[in-house]
Amino acid sequence: MKFFVDTADVAAIAELNDLGMVDGVTTNPSIILKSGRDILEVTREICDLVEGPVSAEVVATDADDMIAEGRKLAQIAENICIKVPLTWDGLKACKVLSDEGNKLNVTLCFSANQALLAAKAGATFISPFIGRLDDINLDGMDLIADIRTIYDNYNFGTEILAASIRSVNHMKDAALIGADVATAPPAVIKAMAHHVLTDKGLDAFLKDWAKTGQKIL
Ligand code: E4P
Repeated sequence: MKFFVDTADVAAIAELNDLGMVDGVTTNPSIILKSGRDILEVTREICDLVEGPVSAEVVATDADDMIAEGRKLAQIAENICIKVPLTWDGLKACKVLSDEGNKLNVTLCFSANQALLAAKAGATFISPFIGRLDDINLDGMDLIADIRTIYDNYNFGTEILAASIRSVNHMKDAALIGADVATAPPAVIKAMAHHVLTDKGLDAFLKDWAKTGQKIL
């Protein structure tokens, strides 16, 4: 499973990128607001840092304006992935922009039927939002599983990008189901390294080591 980082925090992306943990980056208007940065400037900086696709989201709601915004975002760098919402106009924009050779991430997907339409419209990635479904007492992972089955039934090339990930369990479950990509905040990716027994075991080893009076360096 590929890891995308769901942030516009350049320092956090750089830290994970140095460890080989970053296969791409996703942003959205709320993430840009949180960064306090200019969208074009910060997206360019991220594209320079990361080799994989960097999703930048359009904010228009009609197809023609989405297409114009998408073309402008695509000029930032070769690894830009244009993000459009899963509306009828978003699907129209997806088709036009993907036919022009751009990578497209269709976002705000909450049903298997929406994912089916996005694949037909030429999406590179479909972004089902797990956490937001869990928030309303539905099971976001069921959606990932349904989309996996449908895409495999018909050999769609659209990649499933599990989004709105809130926990390390979301990461594990997305990987078990076979999501192609998971995008998560840096804190969730770092939390995957933590285990209470690792901390406890290391503590015991270090205490015993101190008693030996030895040094390695
Ligand atoms: C994905 O592309 C979105 O930016 C993101 O995962 C949304 O997550 P949230 O529901 O935690 O805002």
